[in-house]
Amino acid sequence: MTDSNVAAHYLAPAEASLRSAGLAVTVVVLPPGESSKTLARAAELYDRFLNGGIDRGSVVVALGGGVVTDLAGFAAATYMRGVAWVAVSTTLLGQVDASVGGKTAVDHPQCKNLIGAFHQPAAVLADVATLATLPEEELRTGLAEVVKHAVIRDAALFEMLERDAARILARDPAVLEDVVARNVRIKAAVVMADERESGLRRILNYGHTVGHAIESLAMQASGPAMTHGRAVALGMVAEAGIAERRGLVGRAVVERQRRLLERFGLPVSAAGLDLERCLEVMRHDKKAEAGRLVFVLPESIGAVRVANDVTDDEVREAILSLA
Ligand SMILES: NC(=O)c1ccc[n+]([C@@H]2O[C@H](COP(=O)([O-])OP(=O)(O)OC[C@H]3O[C@@H](n4cnc5c(N)ncnc54)[C@H](O)[C@@H]3O)[C@@H](O)[C@H]2O)c1
Ligand SMILES: [Zn+2]
Repeated sequence: MTDSNVAAHYLAPAEASLRSAGLAVTVVVLPPGESSKTLARAAELYDRFLNGGIDRGSVVVALGGGVVTDLAGFAAATYMRGVAWVAVSTTLLGQVDASVGGKTAVDHPQCKNLIGAFHQPAAVLADVATLATLPEEELRTGLAEVVKHAVIRDAALFEMLERDAARILARDPAVLEDVVARNVRIKAAVVMADERESGLRRILNYGHTVGHAIESLAMQASGPAMTHGRAVALGMVAEAGIAERRGLVGRAVVERQRRLLERFGLPVSAAGLDLERCLEVMRHDKKAEAGRLVFVLPESIGAVRVANDVTDDEVREAILSLA
């Protein structure tokens, strides 16, 4: 399973490789983009699996970014109560985040990732050579998650990102391989400690409490185009600001994070964003979470704490500080 963008670059070699190993292959190519992550598409896949003779002994190979791996993983989790799947990840976000951890899902019209299952892939392959063809904006989205991982867990990675930013942006495969490997280790360690997100796994949501509000606002409104990575970058700036005002973290750390995000072409202020409406979305999210928004707040580069006592005033100040 792949999408048409990825198929144009990598389907032929992937298919040839599977066939040369003596495997029978059924190819499914989906339209690219989040709009493919639906139950309707999953239902189409079940038809294709059935007609293609896929059974418990088959393996679903997802070749693509997070959309393809989430959808293929979900279809694999549910078809015949679960068939094996392998993630072959071709976006930076997929390699450092979406393909690791076993969360699979499709979207509900009203809520992203609402319908899903935990279903670990049998293997995850990340070939950084595929990142050569990735659109610039998609690289940036992945880099936002990379910065997030460094801030929550790994000061040495943060220093490496500062030092090697130019080589990363130039997509030097040797550096990218190191970046991906370090990030997989971080995410895998967190998920292994807490697969079902009852505790530690929540730290992966750093930047995402505010980021989610910014993203959903951009989706509803005719505001500035907003990728997930850009929203998370703004979310990290806002949430680090909460930590700074609480005296949890010094200004120098907040500034270092800001400089690294800027270096990677990610936004650190939200010109054109309707911050009052963003606050409304936050209030709405808070209601949906039974009155409790969980924030992940940095204490230094490499360490965070989880707080569920952030006040409305603090949230307001954090959002307005993005102006
Ligand atoms: N399961 C998880 O734990 C988890 C974690 C984070 C994100 N996600 C999900 O991941 C999805 C986003 O993933 P994504 O950012 O990889 O998006 P994506 O899969 O849509 O890929 C982004 C774009 O890049 C194209 N593309 C992919 N690889 C390419 C390559 N090598 N060269 C050229 N073009 C290429 C795709 O066709 C697409 O247009 C979201 O649906 C999100 O919910 C899941
Ligand atoms: Zn994210």
